[in-house]
Amino acid sequence: MAINYQERIPNNVDLGNDRRLQRALEHWQPRFIDWWQELGPEGFQMRDVYLRTATSVDAKGWATFGAVKMPDYRWGIFLADQEKDRTIGFGDDFGKPVWQQVPGEHRSTLRRLIVTQGDTEPASVEQQRLLGKTCPSLFDLRNLFQVNVEEGRHLWAMVYLLHAYFGRDGREEAEDLLMRHSGSEDNPRILGTFNEPISEWLSFFMFTYFTDRDGKYQLKSLAESSFDPLARTCQFMLTEEAHHMYVGETGITRIIKRTLAKMAELKTDDPAVLRKAGVIDLPTLQRFVNFWFSSCMDLFGAEVSSNAAITFATGVKGRPDERVFEDHVERDTVMEIEMPDDAGDIRLGEITVRSGINEQVRTAYIKDCMVGVIRWNRLIKKAGFEFTIELPSSRFRRQIGFWANIVTDPKGEFISAEEFNRRHDEFLPSESDRAYIHSLMQQVVEPGKMAGWIAAPDRGINNMPTDYEYVHMS
Ligand SMILES: [Fe+2]
Ligand SMILES: [Fe+2]
Repeated sequence: MAINYQERIPNNVDLGNDRRLQRALEHWQPRFIDWWQELGPEGFQMRDVYLRTATSVDAKGWATFGAVKMPDYRWGIFLADQEKDRTIGFGDDFGKPVWQQVPGEHRSTLRRLIVTQGDTEPASVEQQRLLGKTCPSLFDLRNLFQVNVEEGRHLWAMVYLLHAYFGRDGREEAEDLLMRHSGSEDNPRILGTFNEPISEWLSFFMFTYFTDRDGKYQLKSLAESSFDPLARTCQFMLTEEAHHMYVGETGITRIIKRTLAKMAELKTDDPAVLRKAGVIDLPTLQRFVNFWFSSCMDLFGAEVSSNAAITFATGVKGRPDERVFEDHVERDTVMEIEMPDDAGDIRLGEITVRSGINEQVRTAYIKDCMVGVIRWNRLIKKAGFEFTIELPSSRFRRQIGFWANIVTDPKGEFISAEEFNRRHDEFLPSESDRAYIHSLMQQVVEPGKMAGWIAAPDRGINNMPTDYEYVHMS
């Protein structure tokens, strides 16, 4: 479909031919801009930023680079191309045609899924809004803003679905997405993790590595949905999401590289000495991994979930990469899963696959998280040091599911609450860890220059040099 770039809302959904929808979105747009100005990135709003803007969904158009002031970013509505004769890929209605409209019986479930997904997008922008003040380089500052504007576009994507397919309730939900605020006392964001402010860059990189990856798996599950407009919306969002995880993975890699260089130079792995040298010691990094990974575990839901079984059976929400599974119906299939037994031990139990969908998604996510961890460990080994970064057990620090309120160490071994409290600072970032990380956060905005705790990137964005002025300061 041709795209008219002169339109107020760039789109490939033929908005111009749907006056009602166009008016509704044009009414929502100024509220979005107000929200962006008030709760979007602080500072730099009037600066030119070298941003990628999606102007269409094909290989050429979805990544157009150029200098843009963030409030002028062309947030738009883009759905992946419609697949001809697409059929339902899983559940009881496997093989039947997908839905182009919302079936009445799935309306409230679909609305809830879209609102929950939509809520995380502006939430993350709000969480990260102060990071510009302490950026380690212009390259990183630009990456932060790229992530932020794209999360803004993901909000647009969900708001489009609400306005286009959910009538009056959809319009109200779209308003509410701008009313809830991350960390607000009386009107917080829906999911707990999205109410924690992200006040330093180590956590930003951890967030983009771990929490955005949760987003990837949620989107992958929704990209399988029988509600075709939702599936196509999420398919396109995934192309943007990949960059967010790249920011996280390369950010953590560059921190490790810098630390390893200092370790080699000073011939030590002593955290105290390394902190004096202004880098992030690996045990501290591990504690941040423990914190961020474990705070993502609950986002997948309980191990056994009748809700997940229903959304799978009805075709509303699938599993990531459904095609890799052998059985797409899973009518009477079972799976084995670890669960606590009465004697305070772990036993293998059997559950139906349908009720274990959350666990299947969580398992796929954990495997994906491992990819970067393996690379980081290779770097450490190559530098000649004995240290292995590990993902904690999925039982660690859980609040829902089988392991809720069962106290474990990061390896997943049961310990007493007393022991957990005593060893807290060994497992998770301590007050002094956080204070140290904060002490490193100093704004660096000279092109090509990096803060002392992070190595320069291997390459710039879109083949530009690493010392390019990614955010125009002059
Ligand atoms: Fe997103
Ligand atoms: Fe993201």
